Amino acid sequence: MRIGIVCSGGDAPGMNAAIKKFVEISYQLGYEPYFIYDGYEGMIDGHIKKANYSDISGIIHRGGTIIRSSRSKRFFEYKYRKQAYENLKKEKIEHIIVLGGDGSFRGLDVLSKEFDLSFIGIPSTIDNDIPFSDYSIGVDTALNVIRDCIDNIRDTASSFKRAFVIETMGRECGYLAAVSAIANGAEICMIPEINFDWEKVKKRLIKEFENGRNYLIAVVAEGCKSTWKMAKWIEENFNIETRISVLGHIQRGGKPTVRERLIAGEFVCVALNNLDEKNKVVVKQGDKYSFVDIQTLVSSSYKLDKKIIEMLNFLD
Ligand code: F6P
Repeated sequence: MRIGIVCSGGDAPGMNAAIKKFVEISYQLGYEPYFIYDGYEGMIDGHIKKANYSDISGIIHRGGTIIRSSRSKRFFEYKYRKQAYENLKKEKIEHIIVLGGDGSFRGLDVLSKEFDLSFIGIPSTIDNDIPFSDYSIGVDTALNVIRDCIDNIRDTASSFKRAFVIETMGRECGYLAAVSAIANGAEICMIPEINFDWEKVKKRLIKEFENGRNYLIAVVAEGCKSTWKMAKWIEENFNIETRISVLGHIQRGGKPTVRERLIAGEFVCVALNNLDEKNKVVVKQGDKYSFVDIQTLVSSSYKLDKKIIEMLNFLD
C-alpha cells in the first residue's frame, strides 16, 4: 500500500523528525512511503515522489520541513481538489498522513468525502490549539525559543530599568504566551482566553515598584491585538521607559528539542499502526494517544488547561 505524507499550514519544528519516522516505519510495516511536497499546493501540482532513506538522512535536527508546506487558497475550489485527487490516484496513493492544524484537517476531510481516499491528521502547530490534544508538534521547541528570547530581553531590561512588552504568536490561542509568562517569570501576561483586569494588575504593580521592582516583563499573545496598548499603559501608569519586542517567526524555527523529536515519532507510530482509523486525528492526552473523529474535532475549540490558568492567577 502507498501512503503519502504532507505538511500543511505553518511549519513546525519536529516535522522533520515525524517525516523521518514516517519513512522508517512505513518500510518496516511493508508500506511504500511517498512525499507530497509544498503542502496542498504541491498535491494540486503533482509534486509527489517516492521517499527513500537518502531523503531522510541528516534531517532529524533541522527545524522547518524538508517537504515544505503551504497555505493553499486553490484547495478551497473543487476543480483543484479534483486535480489533487487525480495526482494522488496516478501515484496509487490511498492514504495520507497530514501534519498540520485543524484547518488543514478540514481540507482533507472535504477531499476524502468527495473522492476515494482516507487520511489521518497529526497535530502540528506551534500554536498548540488543537482540541482534545494537549500537545501539537512544534510547541515544545517554540516554548524553548521564546524562553531564550525572554531571558535575553531580561538582561537588557534589568540593565536599563526598562519595561518590555513581548508579543508571542499563537493566533487566537494564548498557550504560548501563558506558558512562557509562567516559565519566564513575567510580571504581566495577557491572553485572549482571560479578561485582563487592568485595575487589579495596576494596584499590584504599584506596590511592587514601591517595594523595589525596577524593571518589568509583559508577555502579550498576538491574539489580544493589544501589544501597543499595553506598552502605552505601562509607560503612563508606572513612569518607566518601555520597549516592544514582537518575536514573530523566530518562534517557528530552530532545532527541535529532545521532547519534540520523541513525541513527533510517537505520533507517527500511532498513526501508521492504526490506518483503519480513517479520517481521524491522533491526539495526545497525558501519555496516552487516541483518535478523534474529524467532525468532533472541528466542531470543538481548544481549551486552555485549567492548571495553566490557575498558575496565571498570581499575575492578577
Ligand atoms: O499557526 C502558526 C502561526 O505561526 C501563528 O502563530 C501565526 O499567527 C501564523 O502562523 C503566521 O502565519 P504566516 O507564517 O502565514 O505569517
